[in-house]
Amino acid sequence: MAFNLLQGKKGIIFGALNDLSIAWKVAERAHEEGAQFVLTNTPVATRFGEIHELAKATGSIVILADATSEKDLEQLILKTMEHFGGKIDFILHSIGMSMNVRKGRPYNDLSYEYFLKTLDVSAVSFHKVLQAAYKHDAINEWGSVLALSYVAAQRTLYRYNDMADAKALLESVARSFGYIYGRERKVRVNTVSQSPTRTTAGSGVKGMDGLMDFTERMSPLGNASADECADYCITLFSDLSKKVTMQNLFHDGGFSSMGMSNRAMLMYNRSLECKDCPEASDEDTGLTD
Ligand SMILES: NC(=O)c1ccc[n+]([C@@H]2O[C@H](COP(=O)([O-])OP(=O)(O)OC[C@H]3O[C@@H](n4cnc5c(N)ncnc54)[C@H](O)[C@@H]3O)[C@@H](O)[C@H]2O)c1
Repeated sequence: MAFNLLQGKKGIIFGALNDLSIAWKVAERAHEEGAQFVLTNTPVATRFGEIHELAKATGSIVILADATSEKDLEQLILKTMEHFGGKIDFILHSIGMSMNVRKGRPYNDLSYEYFLKTLDVSAVSFHKVLQAAYKHDAINEWGSVLALSYVAAQRTLYRYNDMADAKALLESVARSFGYIYGRERKVRVNTVSQSPTRTTAGSGVKGMDGLMDFTERMSPLGNASADECADYCITLFSDLSKKVTMQNLFHDGGFSSMGMSNRAMLMYNRSLECKDCPEASDEDTGLTD
């Protein structure tokens, strides 16, 4: 159901790779709510992904940019303002990548070259986007900038690896830039901390099925889907959340406030009762991070 929540608003959406992407769902919902936007991703992603289909369906244009490149971001901001004939109202940063995760390097044996890349792509890029937008005064008063985060910024989750550090930095950037952007230009900056979600990036984390089953059992409202995440992002781009800024907002069915749930405990007890099941140790599973 559409409510015209973004009627007349213009924006930039980073990170729609395919129809599983959280950014893809946000683009579809933003379109339904009356927004116009530019879609952006890397040249490689647009070759493998289906972003042009999304652009067609939502009446958008695609402007390529690597979010780690200050030059690309500057061009993106300038071309977007030229396209719309003025300022925009919202930006979605939905970007994440870790070569350490991809290559199976555990946290106690990181490649530092990859580690710096993880931080650059997944967190510093958020600062670069904000700085480029600020420099060109690209966002209207009461505009809204959002990035996607994960609870591994606060809690240690097995196998999330160096992405946890990237998410902690991402959330810190939202607070630090949110102060300046709010004070000087009345623009809000937040992160949404989403449940594990089956997307291309999500599937890069090994053991995703087990993790999703665990978080589903632990969350009183169950895991939040990508579509539900998109709904939440729309409210945060709308004028109904004008005084929300510098926050990390959990969108996870309650997971982040739980210690143990009945449903998870039942499963755990069942595994204890299973006499034939070997007790898993890190050695058995060959896992160290
Ligand atoms: N899937 C999950 O379980 C989950 C949970 C919480 C948060 N998130 C976060 O949501 C965001 C979106 O991820 P997703 O799950 O939709 O996966 P996805 O793979 O669909 O999206 C990740 C996007 O990042 C883009 N990207 C990578 N490097 C880039 C660069 N240098 N410049 C510009 N774009 C680049 C990719 O092309 C891709 O479109 C990420 O920040 C991710 O960490 C995902």
